[in-house]
Amino acid sequence: MSELSEVDKTKRLFMGLGSIVIGAGIGGALAYPIFQFAVGNALKTGEGGEDKNWIDLGSVADFEEGKPTAKKITIEIRDGWVKSSSDETIWVVKRGNDFLTFTATCPHLGCKVNWIPERNEYFCPCHNSAFDVSGEKKPGSASARGLDALEHRVADGKLQVVFQKFKNLLPTKEVFS
Ligand code: FES
Repeated sequence: MSELSEVDKTKRLFMGLGSIVIGAGIGGALAYPIFQFAVGNALKTGEGGEDKNWIDLGSVADFEEGKPTAKKITIEIRDGWVKSSSDETIWVVKRGNDFLTFTATCPHLGCKVNWIPERNEYFCPCHNSAFDVSGEKKPGSASARGLDALEHRVADGKLQVVFQKFKNLLPTKEVFS
């Protein structure tokens, strides 16, 4: 067997390095979307705390103690490349230094609940579900669970919520993804 010439050795070395560079490129290209998916989901769910999409509902001073108040918001929905918007209502009740915040979407089949002051309850007219001021489901309601509370905080004197949609019909709250 003949010895490899210096030219052949150089060619082999070059091809070897080329394979490493190409392999690293392909590996990186495959790893990036996985990384993006994992981090993107962590951000969407707000596990880091500061990356949540906090929506202002107004100054805390504007809410009357114990009285359910409806706040309207518009949220942006992205489905792939398609963007649309949706008008939503959030019910807020001030309780001392804290708040109750519920989406107005009925957990039964998604109609909107309204506060009925004379009956002291939220009511969904679609299939007669009723909820007390704390969002608990009243007996005889079609809904399998109480109203869905939204995460909230007070920042710079303003009440803020994280709006989410939840699956219908289930006895426990589950985020719709
Ligand atoms: S959608 Fe509310 S009771 Fe059915």
